[in-house]
Amino acid sequence: MNTEELIKIEDDYFINTFTRQPIVLDHGEGVKVTDTEGKEYLDMFAGIAVNALGHNHPKLVEAIKKQAEKLIHVSSIYYNEPALVYAKKLIDLTSFDRIFYANSGAEANEGALKLAVKYTGKNEIISTVESFHGRTLATLAATGHDEYHEPFKSILPQGFINVPYNDIEAIKEAVTENTAAIIVEPVQGEGGVNIPDSDYLKEISKLCRENDIVFIVDEVQTGFGRCGSLFTHELFEVEPDIMTVAKGIGGGVPMGAILAKEEIAGAFVPGDHGTTFGGGPLVCAAANATLDVIIEDDLLSNSRIVGQYLKDELTKLMENHDNIKEVRGCGLMVGVELTVPGAEYVDKLREKGFLINCTADKVLRLVPPLIITKDSIDEFVKALDETL
Ligand SMILES: Cc1ncc(COP(=O)(O)O)c(C=O)c1O
Repeated sequence: MNTEELIKIEDDYFINTFTRQPIVLDHGEGVKVTDTEGKEYLDMFAGIAVNALGHNHPKLVEAIKKQAEKLIHVSSIYYNEPALVYAKKLIDLTSFDRIFYANSGAEANEGALKLAVKYTGKNEIISTVESFHGRTLATLAATGHDEYHEPFKSILPQGFINVPYNDIEAIKEAVTENTAAIIVEPVQGEGGVNIPDSDYLKEISKLCRENDIVFIVDEVQTGFGRCGSLFTHELFEVEPDIMTVAKGIGGGVPMGAILAKEEIAGAFVPGDHGTTFGGGPLVCAAANATLDVIIEDDLLSNSRIVGQYLKDELTKLMENHDNIKEVRGCGLMVGVELTVPGAEYVDKLREKGFLINCTADKVLRLVPPLIITKDSIDEFVKALDETL
């Protein structure tokens, strides 16, 4: 089938939920992906900040192959070695004590909200405007976009309050004696790569301590080195009660997790929460390999150094392009805010062989694989310069 015929299948058979780019991706190697017509792209998007190791990383592929030949699925009713090994490995690198394996970011957040409600016995959740926490009903209610709520208002759970991001006073005003949890992204991703003031998370943490509120950081997008440290809340020197992760965790396999402090985790007992697929041997083998490579190849430093280089080079473009309003970011999570809608530039760059995305209408979001080099950044910045 040719590309046109393949895309027609989507038109004819898929439930219409995505505005897709008109290419069918076929294979990848490192930071490059190739479509069914043989056109190669530099992947500055990494499957929405997922492919931390790029495409076809030999250690990740090997780990998945080996595990697939041995055991793919057993359910959560039995133990499996990759899940056990990974739990200890990850938790030893964090300030958390316990893990629950989920299959996606939304599912991790859904579970985290349930855990906070069960632990506190309270029923209000504070989240922020422009946040993104998922598409399930509770995570949709937490997501700070009224337009996403609108069609489902009649069945959204109650008790969710969205307040402006990076505004501690707004959170203080929203806190009541019923507040169970505050959930925030350490840096907002879908909202346009929004970086809070250095003391914002510290203030939230303090407020939570003082009012017996559970502090949840949603690191689904920012986790696993995206901002140059393993988890982004570490950069803000806070110790949240719960952290949710997904995206980069398994280098591309569908997986998520809740990490929690001992006392909070203890609120769940068998029957309170569960999953058929979560923590399966295949995805956990992938997660083990991904984490090993991130640490052994020091991709955290690469994220910091190459991310800073990307930001600096993009900032230089501002001299010649009035249509760039701001360049902001941390590590390899960078946003170029334009004065005009960005969709047209996404199309033009794709035609030139570069994959990026536009979020919050005017922000070109760059979240390449953590293995990217300065040479690739030079290629991209030159193309963006020409395109703008
Ligand atoms: C911060 C954040 N939380 C949660 C989610 C939802 O994750 P998923 O699409 O895996 O359900 C996303 C997805 O973009 C996200 O960026």
